[in-house]
Order: sequence, then structure tokens, then C-alpha cells
Amino acid sequence: MRTIPPSSSGRSRGKCSWSFARTACVLADRAFQDDGMELEIHPLRPLVAQLKNAVGPPKNKKHEMLQLAFPTTTSWKVEGEYFEFGVFRGRAMIHTYRMARRCGRPTRFFAFDSFEGLPASAETGEKLQERQYACSQEQFLDNLKRAGVDISTVHCVKGVFDQSLTPRLQRDLAPSKSAIVWVDCDLYESTVPVLDFIVPFLQTGSIICFDDWFGFGGHPLKGEIRATNEWLARNPLIRLTHYRDFGVSGRSFVVHVSETAPS
Ligand SMILES: C[S@@+](CC[C@H](N)C(=O)[O-])C[C@H]1O[C@@H](n2cnc3c(N)ncnc32)[C@H](O)[C@@H]1O
Repeated sequence: MRTIPPSSSGRSRGKCSWSFARTACVLADRAFQDDGMELEIHPLRPLVAQLKNAVGPPKNKKHEMLQLAFPTTTSWKVEGEYFEFGVFRGRAMIHTYRMARRCGRPTRFFAFDSFEGLPASAETGEKLQERQYACSQEQFLDNLKRAGVDISTVHCVKGVFDQSLTPRLQRDLAPSKSAIVWVDCDLYESTVPVLDFIVPFLQTGSIICFDDWFGFGGHPLKGEIRATNEWLARNPLIRLTHYRDFGVSGRSFVVHVSETAPS
């Protein structure tokens, strides 16, 4: 007789039943199609839709951070859009979408990326390569669709940041504010235009997550740390309070926007 070893923890049991629920959901979806029944009117449709967009256990530390940022900004009553700078294949975006839905947030999701991978820079070459993380916009959107994201809520801004993040785009998006900003573009030169762009969208209580804060071993003159220190010096009305660290290189902050510069 085959014995099934007891699962080592409640966490892995949870993961198992979660995978089971997702698989059941995909199969049910297929069965509806084979059935020839209109998807929209199938009696089980709402349940399947709910399961598809539900949030499972976090798969990594980024997910844990996102699972904290949404309920936190919701409880602080900080409303606004989700901005992600550097989206690659959409893994973080998919998780964000599910979190926002779970918190009942009518957020719009902005995906900023060249979709060409990392640009050439003084910081590419050794650990990070030019064109690393290239993924086409079509592939990104397809990944989102397959994960059940309603892509009418996702707005892609394609282009290299120092060309695509323009004052005109800032005006077009005004008066929107951002509740959560996810900066995941690895390099100093990529982070500089991102931080300059987000200034008018920040509000007290916005959370900024830097995925690569410690990307260069915490070197103060490299990457996101250098870009942020220089940006804070240029913008005395903005102050950041350390919030949480996540994964091997992530750090998040809560934004405070003052009316007048601190003396
Ligand atoms: C590490 S990946 C992002 C991963 C994604 N946030 C996730 O968690 O699934 C970095 C992304 O930043 C983009 N990127 C980096 N520098 C850029 C720049 N200067 N302009 C536009 N996109 C850039 C790359 O194309 C790539 O998609």
C-alpha cells in the first residue's frame, strides 16, 4: 500500500490545497468551453472568476511586500494608482492586480518599461548585462491575460525612461496620485528619470518599494541608493521613512510630502 508522507508544515499543506484549487479552476474553465455553454451565463462562472483572481500564499518576498502594501495603504486611506517601473514578464504586476482586487481597490495599474531589457550603462557589464530582462510588450500582456488580469485596467507606457517619462505625460495623468510605486529597474541611470517623474504623483502615505535597493551591496554611490539620495537633496519637500525590507535587496519607504521645506 502506498503511504502518503504527512506534510511537514501547515504552510506546505496550504500551498498544496491552493494549487489544487487553481488547477480545478483551470479545468472548470476548459469544461465550460467544451460544454459549448456561454461562459458569461454558466452558473459556476462567478465562482471560477473569483478563484482565478484570488490571492494564494505569497510565492516570494516581493509578493509578501505587495501583500503588505495594499492592505496598509487601504487602512491609511491612501488612494491612487499603482505605478511599476520595470515590469519584465509581469510577475509582480499579476500579484499586485490580485492584491488590489482582494482589497476592493479600484486602482489603475501603470506598467512603465522599454520592454527591451536593461539599457547600456556604466553599471551594466559585470553582474547585470545590457538587454537582460528583455520581454516584449505583447508577451507581457499575454502573461497578464492568461493569469486572469482584466487588461483594460492596465496601462502600458512603452519607452526608455529618460525619453518616455515626459512633463507631457505627467500632465496627462494629473491629477491622479499614486498609492504604491514599485521601482524595479536596477540601475542608477534608469532610476533617476523615474524618481523625477513621480514627484507630482506622491502623497503623504504613498509607499515606494525599491526592488534593488541593495543591488550593489548597499554601495551609496551606485544604483537606486545613489539616485534616491540625490533626488531627496533636489526635493526638500519630500521625506522618506524606512518601512520594510524585503527579499535579498528590497527596501520600502513611506512618503511624507511637506507644504514647506523643513528648516
Ligand atoms: C528586473 S526586471 C523587472 C521585474 C518585474 N518588476 C517583476 O518583478 O516581475 C527590470 C525591468 O526594467 C526595465 N528597464 C530597466 N531600465 C529601463 C529604462 N531605462 N527604461 C525602460 N525600462 C527599463 C527592463 O526592460 C526590465 O523589464
